[in-house]
Amino acid sequence: MPTRVSQPAPVFPKSAADIPADMRVDYYDAGSRYLMNGQVREWDGPCQEVLSPVCIGDAATSVDHSSPPSQGGAGGGSASSRADVPYPPVVPPKRGDGQGPQPYALGHHPLMTPEQSREALDAACRAYDHGCGAWPTMSVADRIRHVAAFVPRMEAVRDEVVRLLMWEIGKTLPDARKEFDRTVEYVRDTIQALKDLDRTSSRFAVEQGFVAQIRRSPLGVALCMGPFNYPLNETFTTLIPALIMGNTVIFKPPKHGILLHGPLLQALADSFPPGVVNTVYGEGRVVVGPLMESGRIDVLAFIGSAKVAAILKHQHPRPNRLRCVLGLEAKNPAVILPDADLDLAVRECVLGAFSYNGQRCTAIKIIFAHRSIADTFAAKLADAVSALVVGMPWEDGVQITPLPEDDKPAWLKKLADEATGRGARIINAGGGHIDQTLYHPAVVYPAPLDTELCRVEQFGPVLPVVPYDDEREVIDWAVQCPVGQQAALFGTDPEGLSRLIDPLVNQVCRVNLNSQCQRGPDTFPFTGRKDSAEGTLSVSDALRVFSIRSLVAAKTSEENERIVSDIVRGRCSAFLSTDFIF
Ligand code: G3H
Repeated sequence: MPTRVSQPAPVFPKSAADIPADMRVDYYDAGSRYLMNGQVREWDGPCQEVLSPVCIGDAATSVDHSSPPSQGGAGGGSASSRADVPYPPVVPPKRGDGQGPQPYALGHHPLMTPEQSREALDAACRAYDHGCGAWPTMSVADRIRHVAAFVPRMEAVRDEVVRLLMWEIGKTLPDARKEFDRTVEYVRDTIQALKDLDRTSSRFAVEQGFVAQIRRSPLGVALCMGPFNYPLNETFTTLIPALIMGNTVIFKPPKHGILLHGPLLQALADSFPPGVVNTVYGEGRVVVGPLMESGRIDVLAFIGSAKVAAILKHQHPRPNRLRCVLGLEAKNPAVILPDADLDLAVRECVLGAFSYNGQRCTAIKIIFAHRSIADTFAAKLADAVSALVVGMPWEDGVQITPLPEDDKPAWLKKLADEATGRGARIINAGGGHIDQTLYHPAVVYPAPLDTELCRVEQFGPVLPVVPYDDEREVIDWAVQCPVGQQAALFGTDPEGLSRLIDPLVNQVCRVNLNSQCQRGPDTFPFTGRKDSAEGTLSVSDALRVFSIRSLVAAKTSEENERIVSDIVRGRCSAFLSTDFIF
């Protein structure tokens, strides 16, 4: 049963019987499959066990993960025994002292070596063939056909992907479904956006004695790495634009959120020519290092930490040839002005700070409340956070769920402890209570600005509220902040809001008025300044990011006009063409 944070109590299922039958998951035996050079292959090397953040067991007992789950373990039903799985699994660590509910073992994934990385790279480079391969030279209409053929194949495995998404990263069922559907919609919108782009490019430009056709062409081999919080969506929002623009791709799923890609591998293999999409799995430093060090990666699309992005970029021996599309850290502030509608501000801040446990790069991660209303706002916020429902991802109305990152609750506690040691309090009932992988959401008030909690990206359900006297304090904080993605302003006075809007639009890339911070709609530009991002992603921007303008130009002369016309009429070239894609 889910609980309200005001009464923290064990919420983990004691056994499979406590999980609704349609929400159980079988041990995912197909986790050792990977996609290489057009084939879905079975990996017979070492594998890493995948643990769900969802724990199972009685508070007084420990779960033995070293023996196969009976009757499919938490999944019940027909899962094959893990004893049958031909792989040497890494024995999963137990949480804490190994007592109490323990993370459920969901499956396993390959722990590849640099050899497989190089094989994937060779496959992608062969398919690209320095821009001469069948995929990069294919007409836009034909590439669109391949991507369009993938869509129904993707939709066919929705339930399986959603289930794994929910169990692997603890995302609530509605949010997991939303992530899947939003991704499918993104793929469809990408096709539409490319058609629009291509229609514009199918005209000739006649300028200063030249006739030219200007199109966008691919960049080469792209390495796409999404984050754990949107492992499907934020992998596919780079993978699909990269592919459709004619690049070939290697994608590496994040540390958490790997198995859910399994059901899509065959669809990818069937929808694209060999080598156009390849996967690598394993430790980043083992499998990604060799890719970057080879100098053969042309585009790095990475969503994760600024530190890892810097390492990856520096590994590339020819940095001038590397295009980077990065979505990195953020510390998005909400500012509550003295005249704000406090109820609306609380509603939006709760959504903004605690959706998916605050594990969104766009989450509100610090709140500045004007001192005149700070106590009232904080009290209302505390009430709203106390009412959040903590429980398992499949439970109706649940809002706070187990955290997938190792030892995350303990780290969040450390952040809160430092602030409370400096005079702040956790002001909501039950806030900060830890139950294995669950951290009950906490509002920390009044948080001193020079604490780690106010400085770092917590990426979890603990939220500092800082009183301020003068808006200059907020602006100075934003100027000094090493990251700059978004901000949310809550107020009603046009002048008061404008005094913050004008300086803040130059510190961040989106200022939200009386609304939480968020990426969507996906047609809006999504980017950041400083250490928050490189490049802009939106449905149409992504097509530009993964391509470069290239043109065929000729001096206008009778002879050249005849040649160009003959090429176009004879449909001799995929590039030099006036074909219109409907
Ligand atoms: O984690 C960062 C995501 O891009 C945020 O997307 O605002 O739609 O949750 P969202």
